[in-house]
Amino acid sequence: MTLKIGCAFALMTLLAACGVMQTFSTSKYEDGEVPLPNNYRDWPKFLSAVQRPDVKQVREIYVNPRGSKTQPGQPFANGTMFVMENYAAALRGDGNPAQGPDGKLVKGNLIRVFVMSKNGGNGTKVAPELKNGDWVYTSYDAAGNKTVDPLNACRTCHLPLAGKDYVQRYDEYFATRSK
Ligand code: HEC
Repeated sequence: MTLKIGCAFALMTLLAACGVMQTFSTSKYEDGEVPLPNNYRDWPKFLSAVQRPDVKQVREIYVNPRGSKTQPGQPFANGTMFVMENYAAALRGDGNPAQGPDGKLVKGNLIRVFVMSKNGGNGTKVAPELKNGDWVYTSYDAAGNKTVDPLNACRTCHLPLAGKDYVQRYDEYFATRSK
């Protein structure tokens, strides 16, 4: 019995050590509190050059290594983070978006960096009807300063995606991920 408890303890210590070695956070946040990781561009790409001609933007989405291990059909693990860069599309003289040789929109200035973070215990101050599971939202400008964007708007728009763990491009990610 003592031995079993000892092993369980050793295992937990080992897991805790592994947790420290990986780069995910177990911190609990409210909306607007999630720090912008300075190395997110080294993370796996979630989706690249997402075309949004409707809002004249191009988006680059990154997921942290922990989130990138999620299996299709499963919710993302606690500790998952997404960072989405929103670029203004470069415009032609007539105000319409320019197209590159590949027919895609051309990236202009970075205008927003959106962060989503999932952890049990996140978002305790969120109104029950606006809960997005354990996800919380934060918005930065291109210089890395927090913006005054209304973060309940993030919730309202992601809320209908409850069946996809509130992740808008869930299906596209798993359909196109290399492994
Ligand atoms: C008008 C609806 C709408 C609002 C408001 C909105 N989002 Fe999203 N979000 C989307 C869509 C749609 C996508 C998928 C990428 C795309 O098509 O641009 C997305 C994608 C994301 C992603 C990448 C992961 C995913 O879900 O695919 C993050 C991170 C994100 N949004 C964060 C935010 C944050 C932070 C806010 C608030 C500051 C916000 N969103 C507000 C619609 C919205």
